[in-house]
Amino acid sequence: MAARAGAAAGRERMNLRVRAVVLAAGKGTRMRSSRPKVLHELCGRPMLWYVLRALRDAGIAEVAVITNADVLPHVDAIARDAGQHAADAVLQEPQLGTGHAMQVALAHLPPNSGARLLVLNGDMPLIEAELVTRTLSAACALALVTARMPLPSAYGRVVRDGERIERVVEAKDATQDELALEEMNAGLYAFDETTLRRTIAALRPDNAQGEYYLTDTIGAFVRAGESVLPVDAGDHRNVLGVNDRVELAAAATALRRRLCEEHMRAGVTIRDPATTYLEPDLTLAEDVTLLPNTSIGGRSRIGAHSEIGPNTRLRDAQVGEHAVVSDSVVVDSTLGDFALVGPWAHVRGNSTIGTGGRIGNFVEVKRSDLAPGVKAAHLSYVGDATVGERCNIGAGTITCNFDGTKKHRTTIGKDAFIGSNSSLVAPLDIGDGAATGAGAVVIRDVADGERVVGNPARVLPKKA
Ligand code: UD1
Ligand code: CA
Repeated sequence: MAARAGAAAGRERMNLRVRAVVLAAGKGTRMRSSRPKVLHELCGRPMLWYVLRALRDAGIAEVAVITNADVLPHVDAIARDAGQHAADAVLQEPQLGTGHAMQVALAHLPPNSGARLLVLNGDMPLIEAELVTRTLSAACALALVTARMPLPSAYGRVVRDGERIERVVEAKDATQDELALEEMNAGLYAFDETTLRRTIAALRPDNAQGEYYLTDTIGAFVRAGESVLPVDAGDHRNVLGVNDRVELAAAATALRRRLCEEHMRAGVTIRDPATTYLEPDLTLAEDVTLLPNTSIGGRSRIGAHSEIGPNTRLRDAQVGEHAVVSDSVVVDSTLGDFALVGPWAHVRGNSTIGTGGRIGNFVEVKRSDLAPGVKAAHLSYVGDATVGERCNIGAGTITCNFDGTKKHRTTIGKDAFIGSNSSLVAPLDIGDGAATGAGAVVIRDVADGERVVGNPARVLPKKA
């Protein structure tokens, strides 16, 4: 048998026809949530995303995701985001257990005889491609990933007869002696598909939970004389199955640590990994420094020598080199090289801060394009504006972009000087080198080089 399975594995490696089934239809009642379990998020992605990403990283292109009606509509988007382009969502209704989920999967998949079928629970977000690959390369009819876990535990126990695996018993069906076993079933398997098809129909729900257990196929393989080999998961945290919100938080902590370590190894200084909240797929250059209590998510990208934090949140932010962002929020926006943002600034809505720009205390910038060298250092709202190079926007300046019905744009030319506490009533066009006095309420366009003061602002005579 081992020889046959080994040859099959060899064939698969040649034509890359390994398929995977992800079991993700369970109700997840222990989460006590209206949201299905595998859609709960850690580090900015749903649990299911991580499983699909690991399969992609392991080079498995064909994946069937067994789902319930609540998960089904989300599978495509999650799979695409994980880079898994051929995921097929299969409805299991009702959900009668992992064995039943597998019966549904096999009824859906055209037989691929002689091939190996990778099967895994959808609630193991810490799974890594390396373990998937190792499981697939074990030459046997069934490779079963096992891990030593701390007791007490709700995992299925691996019962051995001497060295040989005999069966898996679910915690709820286990005897006291069996509950004392420390070797657990991780929920990741590589099955010889033909043997699995022969075995799966015979499952019976005669157990404590009244469910069809996929784990009953393990004993069935052994009784049929098929080779069943353990694959050691190594660190048990990598195969943590998330069943409730306590386990979700523990998995998120482990994942966060892993993401920080990847970036630290790639040259990022992280002052306090325990309070640094990164998501997958970030691009952080060498010599970036992240200070405590900082979250970075979406498709953010940070250039070399920039310093982010403390107390900062970045989402879909493109940050250049040598930039500094502290105690601030930057969303969907771009900061140029040498930009200084914060403390306590909010940049959002597709804004751009040019090279060397300075956005200071209590300044909000929304849907605005600030050219290089623009400074808005204190207490301002800059919204729907285009601001020219080297403009200085005085403390307290507001672009009054909303007339109660519509938003309007403000354009400010290069080298303009906007006095403290100016109200710029849009639509408005302020010319190059123009100036507004402190407290000006500007309701009409200002020409190049013109100076305006007062409320409503009027033009001052040109300086002689
Ligand atoms: C399962 C294993 C257990 C193992 C543990 C590892 C079984 C019977 N038990 O237990 O041996 O130690 O995982 O984490 O397999 N699901 C479906 N359809 C269903 C029921 C469940 O798709 O009808 C999915 C769930 O969404 C979940 C996965 O299967 O992703 C495992 O189900 P779960 O109920 O979490 O099983 P455990 O009790 O954790
Ligand atoms: Ca589970």
